[in-house]
Amino acid sequence: MKTKMITIGILLSGLAISLTSYTNRTKTSNYIEETEKIIVSEGETLFKAKCTACHTTTKPEDMSKLIAPPMMGVMMHVKKGVKGKTETEKRENAIDFIVDYVQNPSAEKSMMGKFKVMPSQKANVTVAEIETIANYLYDNFPAKGMKHGKMKKGNKKSGCEAGCGTGCEGNCKH
Ligand code: HEC
Repeated sequence: MKTKMITIGILLSGLAISLTSYTNRTKTSNYIEETEKIIVSEGETLFKAKCTACHTTTKPEDMSKLIAPPMMGVMMHVKKGVKGKTETEKRENAIDFIVDYVQNPSAEKSMMGKFKVMPSQKANVTVAEIETIANYLYDNFPAKGMKHGKMKKGNKKSGCEAGCGTGCEGNCKH
């Protein structure tokens, strides 16, 4: 009888321990998910505050009024132009490139033809903020499923006169 009670006791405490660790695990993964969401929304908020005066997030109707390439075009070019042996290395190199470019843009470094060189944003954004923005951009642009070099029929003139970053990269002369 006594041994039975002990066995039940052991079984019960085992159950309690596994239940606790199970709940903790879900708590931890919830916590990680929440933190990731905060990082994404911080990047998005900063990007909207600091960059969307010039860079749009969608393809605008009237390409002739563009002052800077839309962000999906920028990121397509960055991801195509920046190399790395592994995906992690490529991601790091792309983020380093953006962090440097936003502070010190130049025609030599630029991968986007036709537009005037971007004015340095050094005075408007801190390095830490650019890093957050760059991480957000790398993970969210171009949107999944968007292809490089595809061009809608009839869009040739307006799209391609506006230059790269407008979804008609196939026609860019570089
Ligand atoms: C005053 C307008 C303006 C603002 C604000 C601006 N950009 Fe730009 N950006 C441009 C223009 C114009 C280009 C295209 C010419 C070039 O590449 O320099 C460009 C190009 C880029 C490129 C492509 C670099 C390449 O390969 O040529 C990146 C990356 C970029 N911008 C990131 C940002 C980020 C991040 C911000 C916000 C912190 C930002 N820009 C804010 C005007 C702007």
